[in-house]
Amino acid sequence: MPQYKLDKFLKKDGRAMQLTDIDWDMKDANTREYTHGIHVYPARMLPQIARILIDHFSEKGDLVLDPFCGSGTVLLEASLAQRKSVGIDINPLATLIAQVKTTPIDPQKLWSDLSLITDLIETRIASVRDGQKPPTYEFDNQKQIDHWFKKEVQRDLSIIKSALESLAQSDSLDFFKVVFSDTVRKVSNTRNNEYKLYRLSKEALEGYQPDTFGTFQSFAKKGIDGMTRLYERVKGLEYPVPHVRNENLLSTNLENEKFDLMVTSPPYGDSHTTVGYGQFSKFPLIWLGGQYSLNIPTCGKMLGGRKRDDALIPSDTFHEQLDMIRKNDEEHKNKRWREVVSFFADYQDCVKRVFDSLKEGKYACFVVGNRTVREVRIRMDLITTEIGEYYGFSHHITIPRTIPTKRHPFTQKLYVDPKWTDVFERKTAKTIENIVKEHIVILRKQ
Ligand SMILES: C[S@@+](CC[C@H](N)C(=O)[O-])C[C@H]1O[C@@H](n2cnc3c(N)ncnc32)[C@H](O)[C@@H]1O
Repeated sequence: MPQYKLDKFLKKDGRAMQLTDIDWDMKDANTREYTHGIHVYPARMLPQIARILIDHFSEKGDLVLDPFCGSGTVLLEASLAQRKSVGIDINPLATLIAQVKTTPIDPQKLWSDLSLITDLIETRIASVRDGQKPPTYEFDNQKQIDHWFKKEVQRDLSIIKSALESLAQSDSLDFFKVVFSDTVRKVSNTRNNEYKLYRLSKEALEGYQPDTFGTFQSFAKKGIDGMTRLYERVKGLEYPVPHVRNENLLSTNLENEKFDLMVTSPPYGDSHTTVGYGQFSKFPLIWLGGQYSLNIPTCGKMLGGRKRDDALIPSDTFHEQLDMIRKNDEEHKNKRWREVVSFFADYQDCVKRVFDSLKEGKYACFVVGNRTVREVRIRMDLITTEIGEYYGFSHHITIPRTIPTKRHPFTQKLYVDPKWTDVFERKTAKTIENIVKEHIVILRKQ
């Protein structure tokens, strides 16, 4: 068994607690502590997982990397634990949320700006009632906007957007952009419990009258409450604000920094099928406008977007599984194996980049899900380990856990043993396939 830093986790009776003693399912974990719940985001990491990994594998003042930072869960936990951090994500909505989530702002300032915006909104509503034209915004594809937003909703969102312009000089502007973005998503004609864009049925749309101003107000208050808790928590604390970069990991430059720890949940490689980060972010980004709307991440830009069918991927498990997918592909016109190769070709580049950017002896923690393609459960945990070993990592430990959320990104039903919290070595892992939904794969740079 590998050595742990046992002094980090002491049980009440003073006995050392190992990673293996933790109930990783964390069914009752509060996922919205501080600003964690400021905006919905697909496949968010549990803050508690990030917290434990950061605490266990790094020290105060260390530099942590999350190369797929999404909405910034790891970054916020790093700052709270007084670690510096760098977060990278290709999705400008993700980096906007991550930036706002991790930047404490005085709640007094937010309340006073909210009251300013509210006054402006009320004035505009009154003037529209008096027959004046509401503010309007031009969209490249108005037909698409009409399809996804009711006319009254478009009018109300335009009023809020124009009110936000009054904050142009305020450091709270990004905070309210995040609130606006979450509002856009909530009041659109999409089914709100999906990350992909599915329009409400005709019947459902008939009686659908979303309260746009009310939603904006309630999201703003919820966000300010979270920010108040963060602000109080970090008072008097040395709090390093993370460095968030809106970049493609495959082309970003990581050569200037050396990291003490990497914690991330990479994409599952299924943007086309289940977790559509681009689809999820599309309308918020269109409504935010300007640079945001020019940068909507399409599947083509995400990991696996470059079509490749000749990649040499250093993982036996990958090739075994690819053969099975190719075989099952035979009876289908659409060949899914190509998409799998394209994804892992990019993924291996990412693993190598992470390896190169870490200091010697330091750890990389990948929280990965095993998705299914053509009935083959892709063992992302084993493939990550094998690719990692090829580039020079050694396997430290793999921890399986179940995902307790109802809104998880998998469409297929899996058999899950909820009591399964044990830790297994890589070899035995092969024999318990199909039991768990997520793994925390921990590798160490030799
Ligand atoms: C599972 S999510 C991360 C969620 C994050 N841990 C959180 O708690 O919000 C994976 C992220 O990878 C990003 N991504 C996909 N391809 C990328 C690429 N080539 N470079 C950088 N980020 C990418 C997606 O935009 C998405 O936000």
